[in-house]
Amino acid sequence: MAHYFEERPQTASRPGSVTLVLPDLHLRLETDSGVFSPERVDQGTRILLESVPAPPATGDLLDLGCGYGPIALTMASRAPEATVWAVDVNRRSVELCARNARTAALDKVRSVHVDEVPSEVRFSAIWSNPAIRIGKAALHEMLARWLSRLTPDGQAHLVVQKHLGSDSLQRWLNDQGWPAERAASRSSYRILRVGARPADQER
Ligand SMILES: C[S@@+](CC[C@H](N)C(=O)[O-])C[C@H]1O[C@@H](n2cnc3c(N)ncnc32)[C@H](O)[C@@H]1O
Repeated sequence: MAHYFEERPQTASRPGSVTLVLPDLHLRLETDSGVFSPERVDQGTRILLESVPAPPATGDLLDLGCGYGPIALTMASRAPEATVWAVDVNRRSVELCARNARTAALDKVRSVHVDEVPSEVRFSAIWSNPAIRIGKAALHEMLARWLSRLTPDGQAHLVVQKHLGSDSLQRWLNDQGWPAERAASRSSYRILRVGARPADQER
């Protein structure tokens, strides 16, 4: 079965577009088959973007699992001086996000495969609608990889559906040393706010 998180989707290309309408932003985004939520901007993504505080104005920011880019492009619009890293395992998503950023003239978006971010980069904000469907072990590995790269004052905001395990994810994060709390709750979605782990700053 095809998944939206395949590295190289085999599904034939079926280009489309969606609109992202937020109080501060109106964007048309190109989509395609083989990527996440190609028919409309996901509800969880929209709730995240309507709930998060403004990102830091400068520095490096991360959209973890960018898809066609609604989160990365919103970060870049709200923090035009910052560098926004948009990463994904799915190459079709990375290309779409790069193209959408170019069309919107958001030239500080760096849309790259997950293995192409220089190792010294640290993030003052991470926003993500994480790929819960990759399974718990892979999800934990992915989050640990990127949360350990928060700056000391950095914060991550993650949107997770309650029935897909937001409470147990929050517990796991706290058990691993990342302070995680519920920042907002809307319909079946929870926004988790996660701080930097002291142990990661000592390295
Ligand atoms: C729920 S979708 C969100 C996509 C996009 N941010 C949005 O809001 O429409 C999760 C994304 O994470 C990507 N993904 C899956 N495994 C990943 C990993 N290990 N590292 C980074 N991204 C991953 C998927 O390909 C997918 O695009």
